[in-house]
Amino acid sequence: MTTGSDWCRGRSVLLTGGCGYIGSHACVELIDVGCKPVVLDNLSNSSSDSLAGVREITGADVPFEMGDIRDRELVEDVLRRYDCAAVVHFAGMKAVGESVLDPLSYYDNNVNGTAQLLAAMRDVGLKRLVFSSSATVYGEPQALPISEEHPLSATNPYGRTKLVIEGMLRDLHASDEGWKICILRYFNPAGAHESGFLGEAPTGVPNNLVPYVSQVAAGIRERLRIWGGDYPTPDGTGVRDYIHVMDLVKGHAHALARIDDMDCTAINLGVGRGFSVMDVVHAFEKASGRSIPHEIFERRPGDVASCYADPTLAADVLGWKALRSIDDICCDAWRWQDRCDRAEGRSSAAP
Ligand code: NAD
Ligand code: WQD
Repeated sequence: MTTGSDWCRGRSVLLTGGCGYIGSHACVELIDVGCKPVVLDNLSNSSSDSLAGVREITGADVPFEMGDIRDRELVEDVLRRYDCAAVVHFAGMKAVGESVLDPLSYYDNNVNGTAQLLAAMRDVGLKRLVFSSSATVYGEPQALPISEEHPLSATNPYGRTKLVIEGMLRDLHASDEGWKICILRYFNPAGAHESGFLGEAPTGVPNNLVPYVSQVAAGIRERLRIWGGDYPTPDGTGVRDYIHVMDLVKGHAHALARIDDMDCTAINLGVGRGFSVMDVVHAFEKASGRSIPHEIFERRPGDVASCYADPTLAADVLGWKALRSIDDICCDAWRWQDRCDRAEGRSSAAP
């Protein structure tokens, strides 16, 4: 099985949004396979502290350019200055609820931002792209597990921006087959680097399950509100495909390794197995040794009962599959949470 190291070794790759949750973990993985990541980020949902975490883990200083993907001149300048061989495009806004309240910011940041980035790439003659898409483009699942052939639809403005971007990438490739594009559709990324030096640092109240549960275990939040206990699932709570963030970013190194063989190819990154909210609660209790107080509430609007990937194409095309378990996700998320609490002087007293 070829890893990312063959193609990546010694090459500079631009990571837009590289200070964020997934981008910062990707820095670690790309350094590990011999690549030279360069980060462009406007820090709208992150801090450059994450790159200090990357340095702790790898010993490497990642060049950081503070700026916006909508600033075409800046993007061109960065691509030229570092002689980038590809772009991994993470930058964007990702909160579903916020996208309903402020759709124009999502279209501007995600759709217009990607259009500006692509124009800058074209103008410097760089046509290799790995794009962060999402299982949200499958809308309400019609069949499980979800393969890449599943019909596409969107149930909210965030999802629609991902659909529009995917369409834009297909149109771009149709206009010029010199473009080599890999669209990665993430299921539910979770967990942290196993060192405890890097993880997800949500600002405000976390939207996603694992960071929320983690803050309940830490005593920062009183209890988990479980959105629905009457779904047609084994225990009535929602089922999702949680993929460890370090497995996820390894998929990107594999995509880069094969980028020159791609057309405009969409690939699921998931484990291929679903876990319920209660499964996650129990795994986190085991990992942290804490109890997770929880209560069942009404279903959250827009949620589906079950969603998990068919990861066959990723194995066939990328030679990649997820290796880590739900227990690994919870142990690593807890190590990171515990380390943050200690650094911030919060008591680690069990709730
Ligand atoms: P994140 O918010 O932690 O990271 C995104 C980064 O992009 C942040 O550092 C932010 O400051 C930066 N950014 C936003 N707009 C920018 C702009 N206009 N110019 C420059 N930088 C900008 O999010 P993440 O969880 O790391 O997600 C990365 C990508 O993966 C996003 O495109 C997201 O839609 C996609 N994705 C995430 C998930 C998930 O659950 N985390 C699931 C599926 C897809
Ligand atoms: C998981 C499960 C909730 C929080 C979202 C986006 C999707 C993608 C990944 C970007 C569900 C339940 C959650 C809580 C709960 N992001 N839950 N209490 O909704 O599958 O996907 O993130 O592309 O587009 O929609 O992830 O982590 O929010 O929820 O009961 O406080 O946990 O109902 O069953 P979701 P999630």
